[in-house]
Amino acid sequence: MKVYNKKEDIRKAIAEFKSDGLSLGLVPTMGALHEGHLDLIKKACRENDKVAVSIFVNPTQFNNVDDLEKYPRTIEADLSVLSDLKTDAVLVYAPEVDDIYEGQTISELFDFDGLEYEMEGKFRPGHFDGVGTVVKRLFNIIEPDKAYFGEKDFQQLAIIKKLVKKQNIPVTVIGCPIFREPNGLAMSSRNLRLSPEHKKAAPFIYDILKKAKAQFGTISVENIKDWVVQQFAEEALLQLEYFVIADAETLKPTKQIEPKKAYRAFIAVYADEIRLIDNIALN
Ligand code: PAJ
Repeated sequence: MKVYNKKEDIRKAIAEFKSDGLSLGLVPTMGALHEGHLDLIKKACRENDKVAVSIFVNPTQFNNVDDLEKYPRTIEADLSVLSDLKTDAVLVYAPEVDDIYEGQTISELFDFDGLEYEMEGKFRPGHFDGVGTVVKRLFNIIEPDKAYFGEKDFQQLAIIKKLVKKQNIPVTVIGCPIFREPNGLAMSSRNLRLSPEHKKAAPFIYDILKKAKAQFGTISVENIKDWVVQQFAEEALLQLEYFVIADAETLKPTKQIEPKKAYRAFIAVYADEIRLIDNIALN
């Protein structure tokens, strides 16, 4: 495993093996690596000759300064986890902010055909412009054949697919299933910040998603939503921010279920000041 901090250096390394005809995958991350990230990286290693893993806490996608400051940064542990994979296929790109932003740490403004106004976009204004900006830059620097994103951030995955399509970026975007703790809690770098009591309470989120799924198609969408709100009202340690049942393609909230369409439930919850998101396919 080799670590690069400068885009020129990793580009040079990539150019060398690309001239030998080797394929390249990219797994963008913000570090504090966990099993969910590793699942993406292992899949990328199976499907490509070389895999670039970026570790970069992207300032432009944080709409909350406190969240950015407190975001876990564990680069030493991350590098050790990656070197434990015992593969020389992995290249790590761990830049400073200026290597990506060149002194102008601002977002490009995107039109993602409305995907950006739902759910996370509503509650985190500007978030997806920041994500789009950094991912586009990473695609430009690394020029991967394939790039891997988790369904944990299903809306982000949809937005990256839209970015690639609208801007004709020559990369195949691959979505990967949500990796969970044995108790069902979706793995997240933010879980590191949970207090022991909130960590114990947090699996409730996936329990509710599973129960909402079991009710899907048997009662109305409105009744499922009311039921979810009621459940969280009785759980003092978790505050529900939103629960939305949406069309899995357009991400528009739905009231009436139509046959042949795919639906998904999306949830955001505060455990103290830690914001957790999750989602589940309903049909
Ligand atoms: P980060 O939260 O570090 O996640 C990096 C990638 O890992 C994302 O594609 C995310 O969806 C995926 N991931 C995280 N937890 C997962 C889980 N439990 N199961 C499956 N996949 C999981 O998402 C970001 O970083 C950033 O927005 C980024 C795309 C790197 C742009 O800055």
